[in-house]
Amino acid sequence: MTTHSLLLLPGDGIGPEIMASAGEVIDWFNRRAGGKLFTTETDLVGGAAYDAHGAAISEETMQKALAADAVLFGAVGGPKWDDVPYDVRPEAGLLRLRKDLQLFANLRPAICYAALADASSLKKELVEGLDILIVRELTGGVYFGEPKEIRDLGNGQKRAVDTQVYDTFEIERIARVAFDLARTRRNKVTSSEKRNVMKSGVLWKEVVERVREADYPDVELEHMLADNCGMQLVRRPKQFDVIVCDNLFGDMLSDVAAMLTGSLGMLPSASLGAPDPTTGRRKALYEPVHGSAPDITGTGRANPIAMIASFAMALRYSFGLVEEADLLDKAIATALDSGARTADIAPDGADTVGTEEMTAAIIAALDNLA
Ligand code: NAI
Ligand code: MG
Repeated sequence: MTTHSLLLLPGDGIGPEIMASAGEVIDWFNRRAGGKLFTTETDLVGGAAYDAHGAAISEETMQKALAADAVLFGAVGGPKWDDVPYDVRPEAGLLRLRKDLQLFANLRPAICYAALADASSLKKELVEGLDILIVRELTGGVYFGEPKEIRDLGNGQKRAVDTQVYDTFEIERIARVAFDLARTRRNKVTSSEKRNVMKSGVLWKEVVERVREADYPDVELEHMLADNCGMQLVRRPKQFDVIVCDNLFGDMLSDVAAMLTGSLGMLPSASLGAPDPTTGRRKALYEPVHGSAPDITGTGRANPIAMIASFAMALRYSFGLVEEADLLDKAIATALDSGARTADIAPDGADTVGTEEMTAAIIAALDNLA
């Protein structure tokens, strides 16, 4: 049996509570495999690491992250660290991981579970069965481009400058991720940019088209201006399979898509790096989209689904355990079908369960489905 190593970084707030749920799921897969399918090591990140070492992630933890097959990350931050210096604030731990692992591809699925189709802000028939994947470039673009500054113009005016920069190789590698993923899904990629007003959009379209022609002629490709893409996501979201876009548009489009399907507590994500030239395996970090939820920390009410679904993404994208990933996704859907609802996904006045009961419902579904 191939053993996969996971570094667990629970972080702050509800992070440790939902990571405990992921731990139970990992244990379940180990029991089912009758051995060590996964080994885990747990370490500090965020405010917890700052309290222990004065840094949001220690060098030792960084080394472990670089060596692990995948990192499972909870959430970081909270009011306790609001006055911590900028460079060592809890979020710096996550930024450091993204940078040092070179996680350039951010994957955000938007899946509408049948049991929750009524909870969407859109009409049920528009979102029922929705399953789309947004692939966002994460390490380039206007968030990082230089110059980036506020200039004093000396006449009582200031000028703020952000710079959108993309090189061919950055567009190429994110396009490849999108096309590869589309092949495992419904074989369609929508590439979204604003070539009508941005030079980076012109290059983006050109490069994505070239990558398809050279290596992915079997995958359907369409180009859609990013503003239209935002409209189409709320008008007719099921027309999409994989959407690929730059850092800025991806930030917005992925949040729009996410809200079609319900609560923050449901949303997983993956961030992938380049494939290792010898093993082919990508560095990867899996985390819920939500933060540390200080308002419900310690109450036992956190929804563990975003964290558990993030582990399902690790099964699928890091370990090639597609059957196991499908099984876990199905178990989440089954737990929801059985009526289990944490407070964030329950209609007002409905009965709710806590983190532990929701986790138990998912484990029970795994037992029944396996
Ligand atoms: P948040 O995502 O922590 O919470 C927003 C709202 O959603 C809260 O009412 C919270 O209770 C609820 N919520 C979030 N996750 C939930 C879950 N699993 N189950 C049930 N309800 C859930 O965002 P907020 O409040 O803006 O930030 C809180 C802290 O988290 C801040 O320090 C922020 O910087 C940090 N943060 C960290 C992120 C990360 O680690 N990647 C991402 C976003 C925020
Ligand atoms: Mg965002």
